[in-house]
Amino acid sequence: MANVVLNDVRKTYPGGVDAIKGINFEVGDGQFCVLVGPSGCGKSTLLRMVAGLETITGGTIDIGGRVVNEIEPADRDIAMVFQNYALYPHMTVYNNMAYGLRNRGMPKPEIDTRVREAAQILEITPMLDRKPRQLSGGQRQRVAMGRAIVRQPKVFLFDEPLSNLDAKLRIAMRVEIRKLQRRLKTTSIYVTHDQLEAMTLADILVVMNGGVVEQIGKPLDIYRKPATTFVASFIGAPPMNLLPVNTNNLGGLLDALQIKIPGDAILGVRPEDFAIAGAAQGGLALELMVDAIERVGAETFVYGTRAHDHGGSTVSARPGELPPGEIIVRLPGEAAPAIGERIKVSAARDKLHLFSADGRSRLPG
Ligand SMILES: Nc1ncnc2c1ncn2[C@@H]1O[C@H](COP(=O)(O)OP(=O)(O)OP(=O)(O)O)[C@@H](O)[C@H]1O
Ligand SMILES: [Mg+2]
Repeated sequence: MANVVLNDVRKTYPGGVDAIKGINFEVGDGQFCVLVGPSGCGKSTLLRMVAGLETITGGTIDIGGRVVNEIEPADRDIAMVFQNYALYPHMTVYNNMAYGLRNRGMPKPEIDTRVREAAQILEITPMLDRKPRQLSGGQRQRVAMGRAIVRQPKVFLFDEPLSNLDAKLRIAMRVEIRKLQRRLKTTSIYVTHDQLEAMTLADILVVMNGGVVEQIGKPLDIYRKPATTFVASFIGAPPMNLLPVNTNNLGGLLDALQIKIPGDAILGVRPEDFAIAGAAQGGLALELMVDAIERVGAETFVYGTRAHDHGGSTVSARPGELPPGEIIVRLPGEAAPAIGERIKVSAARDKLHLFSADGRSRLPG
């Protein structure tokens, strides 16, 4: 087992793309770290640098107290599971798992013990003699995991290992991966663009954007106190409502709540923190005109426009944020207002988030 420490890690690809612009974090021994962020933010690049599959332009990567910048992938004591985990089609499941160990010259009895143990953990013992084409997608994914497990590495690296599976299987495998990691206690770094996967798997969550880290922390701490509007809209679904505020529009409302805003700012409210009015006393109350409703069974999403919004805002929405005026409210159960109806919604004072006008920092509020 080992910890992994990244110290001012940088990557510039030949051709000049600055994919990683100075990243620092530590994954403790036995921890499950998830790197999450939108497409192109540098997740795979960073993971491949830890694996040794990409050269490091600047900074250091340390695995188990040893700087590995110049160490070959095979000597880093890591095992990687990719999205496209090509299994050898002509080999049995057993041989797919044994192959890497044989290449390292491990004695046969030891290989046999490791393969059978991994197969048992992954519940694929009955399939050891089958070829990959005789397996379901989920079973193939387990074999790919098995190949990593038999190595008994210091660190597991996962790059979107579940993205080829259908929605139901993804959830099942997500739970399995977490159970497996708890059992093996192997330090893991897991890349995904799926915020739900990130929230549910991570001990420590690293939210990336454009080659830098936006926020690092425990998933629920990040959910409760996002450091930027980017994180606020990336973690949590539907995304947090972000309303440009200034003294001309919602300023009066915030004043009444004793929230001080420095001129322009952005107010955030999670859809699930709104309730049909009456519920939250002393909070933020808004009147909405209902435009659309989505019923998904256990909950209902109500899309509305602020009824008394006269514009006046000088702050425009950033990419990924809601346009001014549009609000999503998430209600438990099936009850919902009608389209065209005017409703009052409110959010408790302690559920309000405040950010600087550029969205780059969280303000006390
Ligand atoms: N071999 C390469 N040469 C040049 N640029 C590259 C190379 N590989 C990736 N990039 C660029 O580096 C940036 C980060 O890419 P990376 O693959 O790490 O993103 P990602 O976060 O894994 O995205 P996704 O979620 O789509 O897999 C992107 O702008 C990408 O175009
Ligand atoms: Mg990627």
